[in-house]
Amino acid sequence: MKFFVDTAEIDAIAELNDLGMVDGVTTNPSLIKKSGRDIIEVTKEICDLVDGPVSAEVTATDADEMIAEGRKLVEIAENIAVKVPLTWDGLKACKALSDDGHMVNVTLCFSANQALLAAKAGATFISPFIGRLDDINLDGMDLIADIRTIYDNYGFDTQILAASIRTVNHVTQSALCGADVMTAPPGVIKSMVNHPLTDKGLDAFLADIKAAGIKIL
Ligand code: E4P
Repeated sequence: MKFFVDTAEIDAIAELNDLGMVDGVTTNPSLIKKSGRDIIEVTKEICDLVDGPVSAEVTATDADEMIAEGRKLVEIAENIAVKVPLTWDGLKACKALSDDGHMVNVTLCFSANQALLAAKAGATFISPFIGRLDDINLDGMDLIADIRTIYDNYGFDTQILAASIRTVNHVTQSALCGADVMTAPPGVIKSMVNHPLTDKGLDAFLADIKAAGIKIL
């Protein structure tokens, strides 16, 4: 499973990237706003840092404007994936930009039919939003599993990018359902290391190291 980091914070991306944990980055208008940076400037910095796809989202809602924005975004760097919303206009923009040879991430996906449309429009990535479905008492994992089945049934090569990941369990479940990629905030990725039995076991080893005076260096 590929790990994308869902943030526009350079330091957080760099820290995970140094550990080989970053296969790509996703941003959205809310994350750009949170960073307080200019979208072009911060996106360029992220693209310079990370080798994999960096999703940058259009601001327009009309297909022609989305296409024009997408063509400007892809000038930032070769690893830009243009992010478009899952609307009819977004699908038109997806088709045009993917026909141009650009990576497209179709975002705000909440149904299997939407995912089917995005794949037919040539999307590189489809982003089902797990956490936001959970927020309204629906199971985001059912959606990931349904999209996996549909894409496999028909051989679509659009990658399933599990998004709106809020918990470490979302990561495990997305992997079990066969998502190709997951994107999560840096804090969620770092929390994946935590286990109380690891802490307890290490405490016991440290006590024995001290008691026995074990030294290596
Ligand atoms: C993904 O591309 C989105 O930027 C993100 O995962 C949305 O997450 P949220 O629902 O926690 O805002």
